Amino acid sequence: MAGGLTGYDRAFVQVVEEAWQEALKSDPGAADEAKSSERHGQLDPSDPDLFALCDTYNYQRHHADACRQALREAGIESPRTGRPLVVIDIGAGACTVAVALGKTWPQELSNVHYYAVEPHPKMRALGMQIVDALNWPFGHFHMFERTDQLLEPANSRKPERFESARVLVTFNYVMQQGSVRRGTVSEWAGLLHGLVAHKASVELLIVTVRNPCLDDRTDALLRDLREVGVGDQRGCDRPFDFSPRYPREGRLSRESRPVSGVWSDGPKAKARCRSYVLSAV
Ligand SMILES: C[S@@+](CC[C@H](N)C(=O)[O-])C[C@H]1O[C@@H](n2cnc3c(N)ncnc32)[C@H](O)[C@@H]1O
Repeated sequence: MAGGLTGYDRAFVQVVEEAWQEALKSDPGAADEAKSSERHGQLDPSDPDLFALCDTYNYQRHHADACRQALREAGIESPRTGRPLVVIDIGAGACTVAVALGKTWPQELSNVHYYAVEPHPKMRALGMQIVDALNWPFGHFHMFERTDQLLEPANSRKPERFESARVLVTFNYVMQQGSVRRGTVSEWAGLLHGLVAHKASVELLIVTVRNPCLDDRTDALLRDLREVGVGDQRGCDRPFDFSPRYPREGRLSRESRPVSGVWSDGPKAKARCRSYVLSAV
């Protein structure tokens, strides 16, 4: 089915689309539940695996496009030899930010060290499969379940290891997840504090939906950071609209038909990107 496709399109069809089409056939009831508009794109770590597959199928391309645009809007400098970029992607889903990085800097990927943190087991599995199928030459790639694992000495990926690099921490469509509770935000502040303590500065890139009805944890994170002595210098705060690409069958359609590599423009999506440079105060 993936014949003729290359790069991300091929990896996506192999890892995600074929599995989703199979699920539509084998358990249409469960697939309908996964597609339910009542979920509003929310994924709790305890949700069924099919929810994670469905969300990756429906939203990953759209979210990767938004992240690419956010990298541009925020003016994130490209990685290069002698100045590698460590990307810590929190709530990584199926490694969506890795897709955006690969599309943005295809020639510089050996200078990108990508660390994904994702609590949902199926998302982690899909992310690892996608990165594997992409076979892009990232300098490093590691997947974690929790943020505290990043700083564990046993993982030998202590913040010291990040010293010669720039660190970019991304939250791509994560800040409005209902399962992100107060304690989670404090943990993130702790991680960022740990990184800042070992480095002069850390960049933060946050992409959200522009929808005032959704709770957004960004302000809580910035408050927690100040409390632990981390200052945030605002880089950008920009609304942007873009044409997300959805599967042709439509996000919530009951129809099941092959859609390999064929995506349609949906209505314009409204996103917001914010960037900050963090430093010890
Ligand atoms: C809308 S998806 C976005 C995934 C990916 N970043 C993207 O842009 O496609 C939200 C992700 O946040 C993750 N998530 C939910 N609660 C979380 C938490 N408490 N800590 C970290 N990630 C969480 C979910 O498992 C899900 O993968």
